[in-house]
Amino acid sequence: MDRPYIIINCAVSIDGKISLSDLRQIKISSEEDFERVYKLRDKCDAILVGIRTILNDNPKLTVKKRYLTQRKQPVRVILDSRCRTPKNSLVVDENAKTLIFTNQKCNKKFRNNVEIINCRRDKDGFLNLNFILNNLSTRGIKSLMVEGGGTVIWNFLRNGFVDDLYVYVGSIIIGGEKTPTLADGVGIKDFKNLIKFKLINFKRLGSGLLTHYQMIK
Ligand SMILES: NC(=O)c1ccc[n+]([C@@H]2O[C@H](COP(=O)([O-])OP(=O)(O)OC[C@H]3O[C@@H](n4cnc5c(N)ncnc54)[C@H](OP(=O)(O)O)[C@@H]3O)[C@@H](O)[C@H]2O)c1
Repeated sequence: MDRPYIIINCAVSIDGKISLSDLRQIKISSEEDFERVYKLRDKCDAILVGIRTILNDNPKLTVKKRYLTQRKQPVRVILDSRCRTPKNSLVVDENAKTLIFTNQKCNKKFRNNVEIINCRRDKDGFLNLNFILNNLSTRGIKSLMVEGGGTVIWNFLRNGFVDDLYVYVGSIIIGGEKTPTLADGVGIKDFKNLIKFKLINFKRLGSGLLTHYQMIK
């Protein structure tokens, strides 16, 4: 199967959480890490997130001028099986192209920079990642940055769709039994199926720690 090179990037607290316990967004990255993330975005052809990240955080998913004056905006990709992306969300503004993968007929009228692509579901009811990655490949997207949230990252990991995993560990604790983490979903029930990584590099970055892993396949 043809697929882009996949970089998963996520900022977590010391206890592995990625938002506040009520799902609200929280600043985990340091300024130095934001600069790294924007530069990484600029190097990728596309950035992908799940619909719950869009609904909770309303991200732009663009590269900010503050970090790069000469920048090409990557394509923004949303996994949204029920076409819930709001027409006024920042991710569909005219600053970049946006692809919304969905499983329902979507009657919303977006601007011309937004394309809706119909996609079948996998056996667990999620949009089929094989189809999506193959579709992105046929569009010439060679590198894809997956930014979350925890459900999307889990599904990429459990399917082995990762080449590089960057985790920035901010020096905070959030806590909460149900607070989203880097990888949510149903989890692994058998130690034989653990998803294993090799630590490639780590360094202090601002007030936190940047780690780089690659999956052991
Ligand atoms: N710290 C960070 O770096 C960071 C980055 C991003 C997000 N976040 C946080 O993450 C939280 C949201 O994470 P989340 O886990 O609740 O939601 P999410 O991963 O953003 O979105 C999950 C939703 O996407 C849709 N989806 C469709 N196909 C999918 C597939 N193949 N795999 C996975 N999802 C698919 C499903 O909704 P439908 O069934 O409606 O299609 C699913 O419920 C927010 O609190 C946000 O602040 C943190």
